[in-house]
Amino acid sequence: MTKTLLLLPGDGIGPEVTAVSRRVAGRLISQGLDLAITEARFGGAAIDADGVPLTDETLAAAKAADAALMGAVGGPQWAGQPYDLRPEAGLLKLRSGMNVYANLRPAICFSALADASTLKRVHVDGLDILFVRELTGGVYFGEPRGVETLPDGQRRGVNTHVYTTSEIERVARVAFELARGRKSEVVSAEKGNVMEAGLMWREDVQALRDKEYPDIKLSHMLADNMAMQLVKNPKQFDVILTDNLFGDMLSDEAAMLTGSLGMLPSAAIGDAGMPGLYEPIHGSAPDIAGRGVANPCASVLSLAMALRHSLGRPDLALRVEAAVDKALTGGARTADLGGILTTAQMGDAILAHLA
Ligand code: IPM
Ligand code: MG
Repeated sequence: MTKTLLLLPGDGIGPEVTAVSRRVAGRLISQGLDLAITEARFGGAAIDADGVPLTDETLAAAKAADAALMGAVGGPQWAGQPYDLRPEAGLLKLRSGMNVYANLRPAICFSALADASTLKRVHVDGLDILFVRELTGGVYFGEPRGVETLPDGQRRGVNTHVYTTSEIERVARVAFELARGRKSEVVSAEKGNVMEAGLMWREDVQALRDKEYPDIKLSHMLADNMAMQLVKNPKQFDVILTDNLFGDMLSDEAAMLTGSLGMLPSAAIGDAGMPGLYEPIHGSAPDIAGRGVANPCASVLSLAMALRHSLGRPDLALRVEAAVDKALTGGARTADLGGILTTAQMGDAILAHLA
């Protein structure tokens, strides 16, 4: 049966990098992949055209597709808007509406890029960490939230970090299952020393491991210590399990270990058989948008993750990842990697290895 991929190019460099992924998908289709590609407006682009960052129609299209590939959202022109009319609110609504609660963020350092990292080669060459970030709960969604004005005139701002046992267990299960295909080791991060909900996270993850995954070596680390350990000795980690906010921060940190934020893809998945949402972890990069110089690798690698997790073609995922690797080994570099290639030229270099 024909699989379907919905492209959501979004804002800033989103459309530029997504165009490269579309070319890569087009190449695979011409070689026999049975895939139909559609596209919809999303983020700031949708605010301008439709008045909201994510229309009900687009959400329905994403839920009906096998996979959605997002570019990036956001930009200074929408930053002053009320909260729920910002591009980022559309992304949160999409994640939550698709119920993609497990965000896989692989931080892999391609050998050819080991010198692009600000860390010494010895610490990053061969790095292969898989973050499993909870994506539809925690402080991103918790109630109550908002800013109120108190009787004395000052303001009071509230966001709520909240998790239930079932929310913790379902994302932990994803981490344990994936760990079984790797080194069978998981490190879970929280701040159980100051947050009751963090301690509960630790206890629930441990209880699930004891009950269903006795073969997995599980350890726990405070999130601030993990931030330090990631730059001190990143290769100690294999699978990292953490909540929405800590996962957001720690995965940005880990991205820099790989040489550039422009290298990191991600997959957001939910229950088996449900569509996945794929996105580079980088943002819309307004400073370089429109110049055609953004690094498309994270988008192309996100497409590879879609092939693996939602489109039933892990073989093609490996081919696409190998093509990116070969392009980098051949010296292809966009500006973020210290080179001069345009986005399209970087795409050419990748496509050359998908002939
Ligand atoms: C990410 C981004 C998003 C997040 C923003 C754009 C809402 O930083 O995917 O990491 O905070 O989750
Ligand atoms: Mg982030």
